Amino acid sequence: MSSVLRTRFTEEFGVEHPIVQGGMQWVGRAELVSAVAEAGALGMLTALTQPTPEDLVKEIARCREMTDKPFGVNLTILPTITPPPYAEYRQAIIESGITIVETAGSNPAEQVAAFKPAGIKVLHKCTSVRHARKAQQLGVDAVSIDGFECAGHPGEDDIPGLVLIPRAADELSIPIIASGGIADARGLVAALALGADGVNMGTRFLCTVEAPVHERIKKHLTTASELDTELIFRPLRNTARVASNSVSREVVRRLADGGSFDDVRELVAGARGRTVYEQGDPELGIWSAGMVQGLIDDIPTVGELVHRIVTEADELIRSRLAGLLDAGRA
Ligand SMILES: Cc1cc2nc3c(=O)[nH]c(=O)nc-3n(C[C@H](O)[C@H](O)[C@H](O)COP(=O)(O)O)c2cc1C
Repeated sequence: MSSVLRTRFTEEFGVEHPIVQGGMQWVGRAELVSAVAEAGALGMLTALTQPTPEDLVKEIARCREMTDKPFGVNLTILPTITPPPYAEYRQAIIESGITIVETAGSNPAEQVAAFKPAGIKVLHKCTSVRHARKAQQLGVDAVSIDGFECAGHPGEDDIPGLVLIPRAADELSIPIIASGGIADARGLVAALALGADGVNMGTRFLCTVEAPVHERIKKHLTTASELDTELIFRPLRNTARVASNSVSREVVRRLADGGSFDDVRELVAGARGRTVYEQGDPELGIWSAGMVQGLIDDIPTVGELVHRIVTEADELIRSRLAGLLDAGRA
């Protein structure tokens, strides 16, 4: 019998397991997302990985050919010099009949106004209790909250999940997905105990057979430790946690020396980061990875990973935790 954990999130979003694969630039493609869906978790195609809204429509169709199960699309709105045509990406998502969207990067007001009337559920990813409350007020269906541990953008407050998630649980009435630093059943059970209704994982899904990135990057993740990340763009108040390498360390150094964005622009170019995944050399550019890489030491299929997490979570709750109670009563 397969293990089943029912939460408000699984019920309201119609997924089997309370596990989300959050948006990942260059990685959130049909190969990974369909595998996550087939495993009974919720995968997100990453809209901006597709060069145009038309390409996103095709990627959604490609993903549908690979799975009949539900999946979502991540639309991240971050400060950029030349903003992509967000409204057209939104239209592509709506017209493709997607039913779940993960928004991230900024206040979701515009996104909620576009997606909710189309009957789309919005899972907003943010990094603080005040932003989560704002998103709830704006009408999102659930929030995903990234703690300081996370890969990508942890915000500027530096509050780890152990404090952030119960703080959010105390203040919010909508379902909460704990994100950042989660790779296994221990993280899932802990997150549920903290008051979350599920978990979101990035780095762990990056290190699976189906993630469309070079094998050497996955191997690199299995050997990297929790110490091997850098926080870049701190002085610009647009912090991002990325894999530690010669490029990210140089970015930190130049900005700490008083440099501006122009002084690091060529080092942080997205196209350069993309070559890391294509060529398999972790030193080629900036790429996101979280502290949780210290907990990752294999490259399972997505199906094996999700099965392992839910099965071990079941054992952890029934045996280890319940056993602690029994021991106390004896
Ligand atoms: C390679 C990579 C790319 C990411 N790109 C995005 C992105 O484009 N948009 C986004 O909202 N989050 C992005 N994230 C963040 C993840 O969705 C997730 O919030 C984060 O990885 C959780 O922390 P964890 O890596 O400790 O699990 C990315 C993460 C990784 C590892």
